[in-house]
Amino acid sequence: MFDYKRLELVDIGKEAPEKEPERQYYFMKKCKIWAEEEAARNGRPLTVSVQTLGCQMNAKDSEKMSAVLEYIGYQETEEPVADFVLYNTCTVRENANLKIYGRLGYLKNQKKKNPSMKIALCGCMMQEEDEVENVRKSYPFVDLVFGTHNIYKLAELLYTQIQSDRPVMDVWQEAKEIVEDLPGKRKYPFKTGVNIMFGCNNFCSYCIVPYVRGRERSREPEDILEEIRGLVADGVVEIMLLGQNVNSYGKTLEKKMTFAELLREVNKIEGLERIRFMTSHPKDLSEDLMDAMKECGKVCAHLHLPLQSGSSRILEKMNRHYTKEGYLELVDKLRQRMPGISLTTDIIVGFPGETEEDFEETLDVVKKVRYDSAYTFIYSKRSGTPAAAMDEQVPQEVVKKRFDRLLKTIQKISAEITAERVGQTVPVLMEEVNSQDASLITGRLSNNEVVHCSGSRNLIGKIVPVKLTESKGFYYMGEVQ
Ligand code: 5AD
Ligand code: SF4
Repeated sequence: MFDYKRLELVDIGKEAPEKEPERQYYFMKKCKIWAEEEAARNGRPLTVSVQTLGCQMNAKDSEKMSAVLEYIGYQETEEPVADFVLYNTCTVRENANLKIYGRLGYLKNQKKKNPSMKIALCGCMMQEEDEVENVRKSYPFVDLVFGTHNIYKLAELLYTQIQSDRPVMDVWQEAKEIVEDLPGKRKYPFKTGVNIMFGCNNFCSYCIVPYVRGRERSREPEDILEEIRGLVADGVVEIMLLGQNVNSYGKTLEKKMTFAELLREVNKIEGLERIRFMTSHPKDLSEDLMDAMKECGKVCAHLHLPLQSGSSRILEKMNRHYTKEGYLELVDKLRQRMPGISLTTDIIVGFPGETEEDFEETLDVVKKVRYDSAYTFIYSKRSGTPAAAMDEQVPQEVVKKRFDRLLKTIQKISAEITAERVGQTVPVLMEEVNSQDASLITGRLSNNEVVHCSGSRNLIGKIVPVKLTESKGFYYMGEVQ
């Protein structure tokens, strides 16, 4: 765990230590001195805008970077422009990349107004050589570029940039060590994500993640448990265990451990009230894990289980290692153990070669499983992945029509499911004052659905019983009991 006293002991009068995390503590302290001088020159504190695209893993990485920048002396702002603008990028679909270039165009003009502004890009998109080359050539005003494997080096990279006053680009092709004990920061004081593993070994044929996040690596269980115990002592009641494929947790450890075993250990932590996890792969969802989910009272009644396609033929081309029937069987087994469990999923429409019959298989699974909600994506061709080389790309207008049909089916089922729950009284973790209407507070059910209720902001961070009084399709109105 991050220990302020250990950081204090690092002597910045000497050479930088070789060992992590002391090396980063050293550069954090060096940057802090620079930031104090810079703030004094400006006559105001320095500000930072951290903007995150993509998944929960990126959100977690951003929290870690924010904590380092806060220590250095940057005050976080919601504004898009600040003394330091950091974009944590995503590259799962092409439009995420296009969004970044759009924003860089805007920042170029802003930097003309404030030449001491620093612009940094990190995350998945920066693991792609072509993109880094493009930034180097066409966006020379970007000061810092780094990838997914060296975010823990933020302070060192920033210090190098300050010293040289030139762009610093440092992207690693592979992960080295897992560095523990850097400072942390949370968006909400009462809930947060905890990384349990990094990378992915699955190589689904459409997906770029294994190329940009590298091979699967699990954190030691003791490090994870110690981090969670520390978070609970600091007021956290809900955690989300994070990894690209949490169901294969522990395979890379010297002393092997399964995800089910880890879950049972986390469940024992006193004071912790809710456990979530993301993302599961159907091929690794074992019966032991289903048993653990049922036994562990703190595990939420919700599973996100990406389907991607309901056609066994397409699933094979996607390299998913399960069939339509196998997936439906898993869902049955889960529901036998936990009858009320909510299921959510990810679905891709328009994978190369997808026919009308294949698409109807997807609709059929959606109707059989009855997901609470689903994230639907139009297939995006990612260069370097096997699917990008498959011919038979589906015409855009066909994809668009299928996408709309899928969305309608999902929305209809979601609305039916939420309507069925109206009248029930359920435990809700109150999270924030409603952004549209300050007389309302907003919370989440165990299954992750959202409810708005009138109530005091003193309830924020607490789990309270709420009667669901009205369904609004994909969220509820409720009354605190
Ligand atoms: N095109 C469209 N969607 C994709 N996903 C991953 N790669 C692609 C792609 N090339 C989706 C998958 C995954 C989610 C995080 O993003 O559904 O589960
Ligand atoms: Fe991508 Fe498949 Fe790994 Fe998920 S499991 S990150 S979809 S390769």
